[in-house]
Amino acid sequence: MNRKDYIRSILPSVGSPKEDLVEVFAPINIALIKYWGKKDRELMLPYNSSLSVTLKNLGTKTKLCLSDKDMLSINSQIVDEDSEKFNKVFQFLHLICGDDVKFRVDTENNIPIASGLASSASAFASFVLAVNALFGFNLTPEDCAKIARIGSVSAGRSLHPGFVLMNHENDSAVTNVLSKFNDFCVGFCIVSEEEKKYKSRDNMDYTVSSSVFYESWLQITKRDLQEIYPLIENGDFYQVGKIAERNALSMHASIAMLNEEDRFYLKSESLRIIKKVQTLRDNGLPVFCTVDAGPNVKLLFQYKDIASVASAFPEMNFYEKVV
Ligand code: PMV
Repeated sequence: MNRKDYIRSILPSVGSPKEDLVEVFAPINIALIKYWGKKDRELMLPYNSSLSVTLKNLGTKTKLCLSDKDMLSINSQIVDEDSEKFNKVFQFLHLICGDDVKFRVDTENNIPIASGLASSASAFASFVLAVNALFGFNLTPEDCAKIARIGSVSAGRSLHPGFVLMNHENDSAVTNVLSKFNDFCVGFCIVSEEEKKYKSRDNMDYTVSSSVFYESWLQITKRDLQEIYPLIENGDFYQVGKIAERNALSMHASIAMLNEEDRFYLKSESLRIIKKVQTLRDNGLPVFCTVDAGPNVKLLFQYKDIASVASAFPEMNFYEKVV
């Protein structure tokens, strides 16, 4: 099946818009068990399952309306219609709504974009919410997630709150993971706001084809998911943090094994913060970290420890209590 048929199997017809202008918001999500590598690039199906936590206030606000021609602005800057970004956004919107419809899209992100802070997840999730509202499709969150996944795999997880599982054995459907947590926080240490040289999509394809560690990554991440799932249900912060941190470092190890310096996302400042997390933890502060496709480090901690974490990490630019 190609992606067009896949979208039509979820959304058989488009019809005419029900609203003139819509404004929606979708949050980013941070994977505790990462997805890294696609087995089907057409349908954006990952090789492995992933488990994330969706934020509340950090993400992408999108305004969408019909227009005479396609127009895109990101953070109030008009995006060049020959750019890769422009093409990616409109290929996605036309795939859902057909080639004849033209849109004006204005997005605002309250996080740095393309620096491994999951802004593509919130952007594509917001596009699906926006067309759903504009045309009155009444899609379920599960169907929205399937469509968002075609834009960016991790976007599928941003359409559910709290802890979210994307199951690669079940059409990569997403479901909520019920949890006893009520004070789980994610903090952000921005090491660099520069757009990364290798986007996650290129780098993961290259890792699948070229990393001697890729098979091991798949085994590790399967084990990590099996172990973390009941710990999230039980709200066991220490063990969840431990597994999340080792999962992220394993993903970066699979990239490091490529032995191509430019493809490795962690900078010396990222490594310094990771080391500091580990040292502070050895000294009794329950803090862990995770890192995505960029150098920025996310801290995982409990709200009860916010004062200690904030004073130990002047590097933390902002944080959210996510559940
Ligand atoms: O969904 P993408 O193509 O932006 O890739 C996301 C990859 C990671 O953020 C590194 C891991 C994840 O599961 O979110």
